[in-house]
Amino acid sequence: MADSSPRTTAGIGRNDTDHRQPDRKLAASKRRRHAMTATRALHARSLSDPEGFWAEQARRIDWETPFETVLDDSRAPFTRWFVGGRTNLCHNAVDRHLAARADQPALIYVSTETGQHRTYSYAELHDEVNRMAAILQQLGVVKGDRVLIYMPMIPEAAFAMLACARIGAIHSVVFGGFASVSLAARIDDAQPRVIVSADAGSRGGKVVPYKPLLDEAVNLAAHKPERVLLVDRQLAPMALTAGRDQDYAAWRERVGAARVPCVWLESSEPSYVLYTSGTTGKPKGVQRDTGGYAVALAASMDYIFCGKAGDTMFSSSDIGWVVGHSYIVYGPLLAGMATLMYEGTPVRPDGGILWQLVEQYRVNIMFSAPTAIRVLKKQDPAWLTRYDLSSLRLLFLAGEPLDEPTADWIQQGIGKPVVDNYWQTETGWPIIAIQRGIDPLPAKLGSPGVPVYGYDLKIVDEATGAECPPGQKGVVAIDGPLPPGCMSTVWGDDDRFVKTYWTGVPGRRCYSTFDWGVQDEDGYIFILGRTDDVINVAGHRLGTREIEESISSHAAVAEVAVVGVHDALKGQVAMAFAIVRDAGRIATQADRIALEGEVLKTVDRQLGAVARPARVFFVNALPKTRSGKLLRRAMQAVAEGRDPGDLTTIEDPTALAQLQEAMQG
Ligand code: PRX
Repeated sequence: MADSSPRTTAGIGRNDTDHRQPDRKLAASKRRRHAMTATRALHARSLSDPEGFWAEQARRIDWETPFETVLDDSRAPFTRWFVGGRTNLCHNAVDRHLAARADQPALIYVSTETGQHRTYSYAELHDEVNRMAAILQQLGVVKGDRVLIYMPMIPEAAFAMLACARIGAIHSVVFGGFASVSLAARIDDAQPRVIVSADAGSRGGKVVPYKPLLDEAVNLAAHKPERVLLVDRQLAPMALTAGRDQDYAAWRERVGAARVPCVWLESSEPSYVLYTSGTTGKPKGVQRDTGGYAVALAASMDYIFCGKAGDTMFSSSDIGWVVGHSYIVYGPLLAGMATLMYEGTPVRPDGGILWQLVEQYRVNIMFSAPTAIRVLKKQDPAWLTRYDLSSLRLLFLAGEPLDEPTADWIQQGIGKPVVDNYWQTETGWPIIAIQRGIDPLPAKLGSPGVPVYGYDLKIVDEATGAECPPGQKGVVAIDGPLPPGCMSTVWGDDDRFVKTYWTGVPGRRCYSTFDWGVQDEDGYIFILGRTDDVINVAGHRLGTREIEESISSHAAVAEVAVVGVHDALKGQVAMAFAIVRDAGRIATQADRIALEGEVLKTVDRQLGAVARPARVFFVNALPKTRSGKLLRRAMQAVAEGRDPGDLTTIEDPTALAQLQEAMQG
């Protein structure tokens, strides 16, 4: 377990290598060697003795039945952790804390959109989760059933997730920013018995109705849920479909102070499915186990996030993304902390709101995304010092590359260490980080840090699978078995799990992250972007193929290619290049503008504004190889004003020039 000595809050990066002060420099270097040893030692031990290491970590949670085998990799890559052990995520996140901290805040809810705020103690959270579990049971949900949660950031969304975990139902949360076609694809894949939703969300002061999108999605989907449970926030009118649609408030009254026992699950039984984008247009359902996830999160709260029972954590993400699952809902609650759930933007009512919340709720640990910080950079810097941030120990940032100016700006501005961490929906918790709960290894700007215990991370040559020496770019890969908490399979498609993740690197049976990376002499990893067609817009992971499919559904479009293009604020934006069926549709500039607007509306309606490209340019040809493969990387380079590289395979060399012209025009 982590040592319990007071944790350092020494600055990271440049502060630790101050050349003007030799004694400080020496101390820092000594500290670094020591630190390297502790982090490295734990990492080495986790790989040389995974059973021993993870058996110790498993003591962080309650088991109703102890496990018999720590690790079963006999059917690799379908690794099973804590085989035979029975546990329950909701018990560990809620019930387990009642004895010691029933009256302590568990869930702090703040909406700057509606002005609503409310703190639920562990006892109150327990009550609400029990009620929600009783409702779901009465609506017919049993162990193993899927419950799709399509909700704004309201407490009921967390109640629903925890209630599913309580009764052994598998939740599948779909980000509220997705629209009907995205939602329908997820309904058909997950086949939920019940959907939990609400009348509307609100963003930037604007009501975003959910119910009409949900109705349209259910119409489009082949699978029909038996029941839809709706929270009426009274933000938007809501038409209820008799028999199918159920009013949450009425049910809540009806079940009263219900108590629903936890259903104990075997460790490998699924807790949830969370869809994420990949290379194809069809989203992948990342399936997570129960015991491994609970243990991995509990360990990460200590070793990586330095969270202690009684602390308050504020993750400014959304429950629709993996950060929301792991570090708004499960992680902090497993650790007996209070979690702050926030509906709102970082700039409303003003650019100080995040820091105001830190002061008001005495937040100790914050987790956000680099884009949110870049948004704040456009605000008056005085906001960073207006509030009392003395409670705050660390600011974690993840989800996209953290550029040095942004890291520097926020670190100096709030005077707190910033901790970059790298991971994926698939892994559920950090792969690369400075693990400050183990020791204060100094950070290097531009790198999320070193491999985390449990991950046998390698930078490998994409063509041979051989390990790359320091300084050589390769694919960030993980030799199996993956540690506890990582995805167990693709929901309903074991074959896809193996083919997608475990066969991508020739000559090596390893998990591919689909990221490029490079390691330096000290073992720090630098992430250099995706190897596939996934793009990262404001920390939101999107598949270009899904966007292409949506644009292609517009009758005027014959063909389209979408690429991610660098953007100073959002990291990347999607840029679409389309060929029209009938050149007459874009005869004039006004025609082009009108058609671009129509295409963007199509994406908004089908996928949601989150997937909307920044621009749609119309061209006569797309750059392809002679065998018809799109030259996406060359397109991206041209769109970013870079050299497109080797073009020997291009079929029509004028196509790239056309892209350039279209963008300039
Ligand atoms: O490309 C990497 C990027 O985001 C991808 C995973 O996104 P998602 O599944 O949404 O999970 C986000 C969990 C925080 C990765 O494959 N990415 C994530 N964190 C970083 C990052 N790129 C650079 N630096 C990071 N810290």
